[in-house]
Amino acid sequence: MDLIRHTGLLDPLPLADAMERAQAGITARFTEVTPDPDRLGKAMGHALIGGKMLRGFLVLESCRLHGIDAALSVDPALAIECMHAYSLVHDDLPCMDDDDMRRGRPTVHKQWDEATAVLAGDALQSLAFELISHSKFGMKGQMLVKMLARLGGRYGMVRGQMQDIAAETMTTPLTLGQISELQRNKTGKLILWACTAGPMLAGDSPKDHPMQTYAQAIGLAFQIADDILDVEGDAATVGKATGKDANAGKATFVSLMGLDEAKRRADELVQSACDALSVYGDEAATLQEAARFIVDRKS
Ligand code: IPE
Ligand code: IPE
Ligand code: MG
Ligand code: MG
Ligand code: MG
Repeated sequence: MDLIRHTGLLDPLPLADAMERAQAGITARFTEVTPDPDRLGKAMGHALIGGKMLRGFLVLESCRLHGIDAALSVDPALAIECMHAYSLVHDDLPCMDDDDMRRGRPTVHKQWDEATAVLAGDALQSLAFELISHSKFGMKGQMLVKMLARLGGRYGMVRGQMQDIAAETMTTPLTLGQISELQRNKTGKLILWACTAGPMLAGDSPKDHPMQTYAQAIGLAFQIADDILDVEGDAATVGKATGKDANAGKATFVSLMGLDEAKRRADELVQSACDALSVYGDEAATLQEAARFIVDRKS
């Protein structure tokens, strides 16, 4: 089956509706692909459900903008949420950030145990690749798989996590340039995949694409906002422990730039993200609203 490309686009929805629809669609698809969950399936579900599902929403939206049918984009949307959920389950483990709470609930290793958390993360990663390697994506699916492997792995998210952990034991704090590079990997690369899934399925090269420019700006803005929340947010609203970065002696955008400058930089990035999408006209309104949401969010 080849991809269905609409000539006319569905109208963009207000952000809150679009995100709600994304969460519902992705959750329903997860339930469909994990029937009768056993202990492992339940732990995977616990990790996957309850977040903002921003990356999945970005997949659905980037696909809508490029004429890809929602029936096709739900699997890549679930796939990126699986990758994200796996990264968080492992990130929370005692050997990494040692966190007990996420999204206002116990982390997977607290709810079950460490072995279950490691394995649930592993299985979520496998599921992500299974979802995008289906033949319904045709040749375009190869690009999705290759880019997820690259952006999720040793040259992407995992690299960023390694750089983050390594920085904790360094005697000299990271420079702004080093922090930006770390965050581009740690947070930016899964967001980049999400934003370019639509172009890739439409047969466009993700390189130098307006969606790539948008992704790079919101990726950095997202992490600056995460660092600000770690300082300014309260744990009950954020849903996870705060003040962790300073306690761990971590250099972050906030520790290096100060709060005001970090906020100014985040605003600047929102503006560049919105500008990058001007080529799409009003069709990109939801994604432009999402850029603003990323820095204004409270959790
Ligand atoms: C948190 O990501 C982890 C980072 C990459 C900084 P989100 O804030 O998107 O987490 P959830 O999925 O909505 O809980
Ligand atoms: C985690 O970054 C990012 C990934 C899991 C790739 P953080 O350690 O800053 O995320 P939180 O603050 O625990 O959500
Ligand atoms: Mg971490
Ligand atoms: Mg963490
Ligand atoms: Mg953080």
